Amino acid sequence: MSLSKKPYKGTRDFFPERKRELEYIFSVMKKTAEAFAYEPYDGPLLEEVDLYRAKSGEELINEQIYSFMDRGEREVAIRPEMTPTVARMVAQVHRETPKPIRWYAIPNLMRYERPQKGRLREHWQFNCDIFGAPEGKGEIEILQVAISLMKNLGATKEHFEILINDRRFVDAFFNEVLKTDQGTTYKLYKVIDKSKKVPVDAIEEMLTKAGVSDEQKKLFNEYLALNNFDKLTSFCSKYKIKKSCEGFLNFINDCKNSGIEEYLSFDTAIVRGLDYYTGIVFEIFDKNPENRRAICGGGAFANLLQIFKEAPLPGIGFGLGDVTLTDFLNTHKLMPDLKNPKIDLLVTFQDDSGESQSVLLAQKLREKGLKVELHFGNIRPKKVFNLTDKKGHSNVTFMGEQEVADNSVQIKNLDKKETKTFKINDIDKIVEFLGGIS
Ligand code: HAM
Repeated sequence: MSLSKKPYKGTRDFFPERKRELEYIFSVMKKTAEAFAYEPYDGPLLEEVDLYRAKSGEELINEQIYSFMDRGEREVAIRPEMTPTVARMVAQVHRETPKPIRWYAIPNLMRYERPQKGRLREHWQFNCDIFGAPEGKGEIEILQVAISLMKNLGATKEHFEILINDRRFVDAFFNEVLKTDQGTTYKLYKVIDKSKKVPVDAIEEMLTKAGVSDEQKKLFNEYLALNNFDKLTSFCSKYKIKKSCEGFLNFINDCKNSGIEEYLSFDTAIVRGLDYYTGIVFEIFDKNPENRRAICGGGAFANLLQIFKEAPLPGIGFGLGDVTLTDFLNTHKLMPDLKNPKIDLLVTFQDDSGESQSVLLAQKLREKGLKVELHFGNIRPKKVFNLTDKKGHSNVTFMGEQEVADNSVQIKNLDKKETKTFKINDIDKIVEFLGGIS
């Protein structure tokens, strides 16, 4: 049997060109998080399965997790998400760490999914989380971080929107308006989650299966039809649930002065599949109808630290995946051209006597911070241009018998199509000609 050259189903090999795109995305993520003073952290690839059992939800545990018994009979999983890990880490240090705690990471995660557009088995996910922020303030900041990232990638509100809802509102609707028991509430959460993905009669059928009355169905449809913040406010007044929804209503009000309101759309279908959310929940959506999917998901979680028997510490954050982000950037032609590796200089020599001088020159220029590739062995100029055409070097040196005798080097700037000869020791002038440090 011959071995397949393809990577494992749903994972990717990153050849240099693709890897440059990934590195570009990571660099914008890091720059954005650090501009808000979020600090990088990291955790292990494997966690005990119980960590996810505690709060991540049935779908993740039953269908998506990669788990196995280790040699010490511990049931472990490859991390399918980062939030339980960050909560576990914060639980170790939060007592002695000044609040709020602002952390970010870009882990690779694995979920056993059916690979399709926007969904793979391995993806990299930018996670930003804030713990212990004053009520309502962390929510706004975390949305500002997400919006800044999108803007730093060149996106505008024409390209994306943030769909938002609040678990406190959804819970109040179930407990105080529909008055459903816990089991029915759980089923109806799933119906809401599917409500935009299936036809109306399928929703009707799911509601009947969940055992809700005609009156409850009417209320449920009234809930689903709410499509802006004004209607939400009237609904809360009409059904006297304003008290339970105070946090969400105040948050909406605060958004008006924070520059994020223009990106937000209230959407009752957003409830999020993970069990730990207790406050606002949101997803960033691509506005392009051909790529209408979530690029990012997040929300507030008040009780995650309690699974470690710690005092409650409110957290809020988001995860934004590289697969969906890359699709988004390509859809809107926002991915920069990273086809060539942007090497400042290719050093070549046309006579063996030029080798040692060329090696030295290459090293001196690297020490000045330039990216320099050395060609091994002497090479004819025509062949040099075949190489520079393929890799897109910005400059190239030539050193033949004459240059060696003169202690000089000829350099061609391939962008400006300009050639100049320099004394080999005139490093500063050479650096200047090469256009400085990239
Ligand atoms: P999530 O909604 O499961 O949330 O994932 C967040 C984002 O990760 C998705 O919007 C998508 O961009 C990406 N993603 C998730 N699964 C896949 C997949 N199979 N293939 C490609 N991309 C994927 C969470 O994971 C939460 N832990 C986020 C969070 C952080 N909440 C608070 N802090």
